[in-house]
Formats: sequence, structure tokens, C-alpha cells
Amino acid sequence: MDRPDPDEQARVDAARAQLPALEASIYLNTGSSGPLPLTADEALRQLEDYELRYGRAGHDAYEELLARMAECRAAVAAVLHASPDSVALTRSTTDGLNAAAWSIDWRPGDEVVTTSLEHRGLLAPLAALAERGVAVRVADVGDGGDADATLAAIESELSPRTRLVAASHVSWITGAVLPVARIAALARGAGAWSAIDGAQSAGAIDVDPAAIGADFYAIPAQKWMLGPEGMGALWASERAIRDARQPYAGWWTTDEATAHGAPVDGPSGAGGSPGGRVDPPGATGSPGASGSSGAGGSLGAGTDRPGAGPHLAGHGPLALRPWPDARRFDTTGFHRPSVAAFGRSTGWLAMHVGLPWMYSRGPRLAGMVADGLASIPGVSVLTPRGSMATLVTFRVAGWTAEEALDALQRRVFAILRTVPGMDALRASVGWFNSEAELDRFLETVEEVARHTPATFPRRAELTILDQ
Ligand SMILES: Cc1ncc(COP(=O)(O)O)c(C=O)c1O
Repeated sequence: MDRPDPDEQARVDAARAQLPALEASIYLNTGSSGPLPLTADEALRQLEDYELRYGRAGHDAYEELLARMAECRAAVAAVLHASPDSVALTRSTTDGLNAAAWSIDWRPGDEVVTTSLEHRGLLAPLAALAERGVAVRVADVGDGGDADATLAAIESELSPRTRLVAASHVSWITGAVLPVARIAALARGAGAWSAIDGAQSAGAIDVDPAAIGADFYAIPAQKWMLGPEGMGALWASERAIRDARQPYAGWWTTDEATAHGAPVDGPSGAGGSPGGRVDPPGATGSPGASGSSGAGGSLGAGTDRPGAGPHLAGHGPLALRPWPDARRFDTTGFHRPSVAAFGRSTGWLAMHVGLPWMYSRGPRLAGMVADGLASIPGVSVLTPRGSMATLVTFRVAGWTAEEALDALQRRVFAILRTVPGMDALRASVGWFNSEAELDRFLETVEEVARHTPATFPRRAELTILDQ
């Protein structure tokens, strides 16, 4: 493949220097977990070290966490062209999709529509709904590359009972970019909510959930955002923030989660005076705070009226008190260093690497890899070329996916993965991959394809004397 011009090469080199994992392999598995930038690693280490030396219980540690959460939310919002108020922090894509699935007050006979190309992270929450009597209808969208056919398949599964349409932006199986804006519009037209799985899109291609018109858009930290494990985010539409049921409630989802509102026994064990809560402007009784009263989730007789019901030491009346913004969808149990690291990796991408450049270079390289693979005799590319992002799924004739994976890994340290059930390999091509290593990868696939597992020349194995 053509080498980039000197400016681009310098940019690639500078970014690669911040991603040490790229030195250890041809890194083609960001669809599972991306390489961590040094700045995120620094944040992890610094905070771990601070916690080890000074403990985790001081009120300043709690305030620090609040500040890091706000910073992280703002960084994610910048990537999603969104306001920080529309972003909740989670620990994974799956968390966000569960929140979306459980934000609907399901009634017997209700239906959810999804596609045949989804990941367990979306399917598992839907299976949990099915356990409770919700019918899950699956639209067969083929490889996902034909937008009109995808739309038609989804439309044919809609019914007056459809309450949710849930689909990926980019399929983890074929790598197809699904027509999510049109899917969200279909859902809206049918009076249903829409939830988009952004695991393979956020950080890989430009994502604007508001422009898509989705109600929920769930993303992970650890994949294309190059963040730590155990973090994610959920973007929620104004309608979702206003009208959706609170799927999960905890310390972070309440408007008590402020610096001054730290209760006696807050999540960090930090001090704070009982009843010393500071309400954010408009938090209580605002139209958005539907979860605390009426249809939004009454907790029982009297408890949804301020001042009524049982009083609990340090907390006032039992009530949900959800934030009037997307924080009502936060999950809990955050690992502070990881919150900071997610903010750092996201900020690094946005401020140092440059999002438009990433979004142009990543899919361009992936397209070249798809073309390169397709030109190798015996290799078939399953990813729809006209509608792809940064994942390339392919097969090598005469090889099982496991065998080909093993050969590629042994021969050139290419780290990729298989797609279960498809007997295929999936390469995740990042903007940070170099043209030279992608050429090496393609040459090696060509070498594999010229052979069978039986004839493939093995590299000499290291023998340890006497063993
Ligand atoms: C499309 C898709 N959705 C969801 C997930 C699950 O992501 P997480 O581990 O962040 O929950 C993955 C992970 O590979 C994925 O590819």
C-alpha cells in the first residue's frame, strides 16, 4: 500500500510513540480492546499510587472523583458532538444497553426488534427481557451492507406492540455500518424507543447520536476510544432523560451526589454532614425529574411526596431523586483511576491525535486491507465493502479460522480474532496502524492462503536443552 506523505507519517509516528503496545505486535484487535495511550496509563498509575500512599477515604478523594467524572463526561461528550448533560458514565457498552433495555415500563405482549448481527452485549439484555415476557423479534439483515434491505427487514418486524428497536451502529460480525439514523427514525415513527450499540463505532468513525436521532447510544472505553477496561458511557436523548424510567438507581444517579451532599456513608466513606445536601438548580420538582414522582417510579405510599414517608438517617425521605440530566443513568462502583484514564485517553484522541484525521485514516486503511485481502486467491472478504468502518472479516480457503489465526500470530505476531459461528477472522484496522505493518500482514495472509495447515512451513521451534 502507498506510503503516507511525510506530514502524515510524522503524525502517525508521533501517535504510535504514545501507544507502546503497538511495538509488541501487528495490533489488529482494537475491536476487542485498543492499545492504551501512555497518558491514560499515567493517570491509572498516578491515582493508584496516590490511593496506596494516602488512602481512598478523604473528602478530597471524593471531590477528586467527582471532578474526574465531570471531566470524563465532558471528554466523551466532545467526541459525541454532545452536551455533557447528555452523557452518563457506565462500566461498559453492555451496562448502557441494559440501562436502555430496562428504562421502558414493559407490559405483557410488548415487543423489541433487533437485528441478526448483534453482540451478546445487546442480546443478553434482550434475553433478560424475553424472560419477563417481552417478545424479541429479530430482523434478518444479511451482512448488513444493504441499507434499504436492512431497513425493510427491520420494518417488517415492527408492530403496534414494538416499544424498542435496538441495533449496532457497526456490526461486530461483518463490520457493516448499519443505517442507524434511518433505523432510529423508523423506531420513532412506530412510537418506539431506539437504542444503538456503539461498541464498534465510537472512536472509529464520527458518531453524533443526536443527529442519528437515537434515544440511547452506548459506548465502551476499552475499544476504539483506547481507554481502560471497565468504563463506558451512555448518551441519552432529551426525551429519554425526561420520560424514560430509571433503570437502575444508586448513589451516582441521585442529585445528592454532589461535593457537599456526600452522606455520612457515601461511596468513598467520605465525611459530610447529614442533611447537608446542596440541591443543584432545578433538580427537584423539575419536569425532567419524572423518576421521583408519578409515573416515573413511585416507591410506595407517601414516599414520592417531598417531606412525606419514612425518613432515613442522613438521607431524608425515601425517594429516587434522579439527576435531571443523563447522570440518572450512571452506574456505580467506579474505579477512580479508570475514570481518570478514560477522560485522558478520550482527551488525547480529541486534542492531540485529531478526530477528523482518525476518522478519515482508520476507515481508509481498513478499506485498503479489505481490498488487499479480496485480491488474494483463496481469501474471501465478508465485510460489505461499500458500507464498512474499521473492521474487516474474512476467510482463508482450506483453513479454519482458528488455524489461520494461529499461523498469523506465530508468523508475524498479528493479533486479531475469530468470529464465533462464522469460521472467519476479523481484523480491526486502526488509524494508528502503519502502512508497512499492514503490508506485512497482507503478505503473510497471502503466504497462508498459498498453503494448507499441513503444508505451511513452520518456523523453527526453540528447543531448550534437556527438555
Ligand atoms: C458490538 C458490540 N457490542 C457490545 C460489546 C460488549 O462491549 P462491552 O464489553 O463494553 O460491554 C462488544 C464487544 O466486543 C461489541 O463488539
